[in-house]
Amino acid sequence: MTPSTPRPSRVVKVVSETAPWLAVEEIGPLPEPGEGQVHVEMLLAAVHPANILQIRGQYGDQPALPYVPGFEGVGRVAACGPGVTRVQPGQMVLPLVQGTWADDMILSEKALMPVAEGTDPAQAALFKANPATALVMLTRMTSLEPGDAVIFNAANSSVGQNLIGICRALGLKSFAQVRSASAAEAIQGLNPDVLIIGDEIPAEATGAKLALDAIGGAATERLGGSLTEGGIVVTYGLLSGEAPRLAAKDVVFRGVTLRGFWLAQEFGRMAPADVRAIFAQLSDWLAKGVIGSRIAQILPLERAAELPDLHDAARDGKILLSTRHYC
Ligand SMILES: NC(=O)c1ccc[n+]([C@@H]2O[C@H](COP(=O)([O-])OP(=O)(O)OC[C@H]3O[C@@H](n4cnc5c(N)ncnc54)[C@H](OP(=O)(O)O)[C@@H]3O)[C@@H](O)[C@H]2O)c1
Repeated sequence: MTPSTPRPSRVVKVVSETAPWLAVEEIGPLPEPGEGQVHVEMLLAAVHPANILQIRGQYGDQPALPYVPGFEGVGRVAACGPGVTRVQPGQMVLPLVQGTWADDMILSEKALMPVAEGTDPAQAALFKANPATALVMLTRMTSLEPGDAVIFNAANSSVGQNLIGICRALGLKSFAQVRSASAAEAIQGLNPDVLIIGDEIPAEATGAKLALDAIGGAATERLGGSLTEGGIVVTYGLLSGEAPRLAAKDVVFRGVTLRGFWLAQEFGRMAPADVRAIFAQLSDWLAKGVIGSRIAQILPLERAAELPDLHDAARDGKILLSTRHYC
């Protein structure tokens, strides 16, 4: 075992159902990791729209207050308890449990995914959710052949950027929709097959078999109207706060259907070997630069209380929280 980190350690906590919601608390001293446990010094933690929904009490899974938020992040193993065999000190790892907005985590070795050495920590902190969401939606919602087209909105989001890269890797055409010229400028270097700016879907971006909707409301309806007969719209985000809907004429006369997608549920239905294969593929693509996300800001953990407002403001890329172990 190696010595533990400087103490005390800090965590972000959701402490209230109303603004300002968040507080940064010092905890510690940290216990030594027990049997099968690992002390992870966190480096960076991802800030996702779902975190902000959860902080505001609007997410599908609401822990009781107070709780430490954060669905993903990256850290290094600082110390291993007795019986730990899968990871070793110094190794870069991703925690697979909630509570990543913290300087340190002590958790079971089973709740860790090792990351290839040399991986950019910022991309590693975003590796678990959004790239997998993009790949699983493209491969498991309907049957697509190389040359088929996929249309998606919020294309400048992290999921959207990963969708563009994975579409190309799978030989699929990407029709990528954004709502502003600045968002289009941010992702034009990713070279989607068609970059759509604004609400209207041009003729060259019609006829896709699959639409991926992160927005809901009229945005869902517009995607549905652009699809080929029998196409499927998958809603995976509710960025507008409106319920997804389709036009009656698309449902009745053109056989367009709508379904939802939640990665956690999808993984729950899959064999562990299939989930491992997905992450092996994504790891290879991350190393080759096929996937990845733009980073807007790395915010020190002590400023976490600013997050809901910062996240709502216009930004080009993801916000990450940095801990005292990140330099
Ligand atoms: N179902 C699942 O399993 C699953 C998994 C992962 C992610 N998601 C969802 O995927 C979506 C994208 O997540 P992310 O982490 O990739 O996002 P992100 O990188 O943080 O980017 C946020 C995106 O949302 C857009 N946006 C925000 N409010 C909007 C509105 N009212 N109307 C239209 N667009 C709006 C932004 O566009 P501007 O730049 O133009 O503001 C930007 O493209 C989120 O809804 C998230 O919850 C779902």
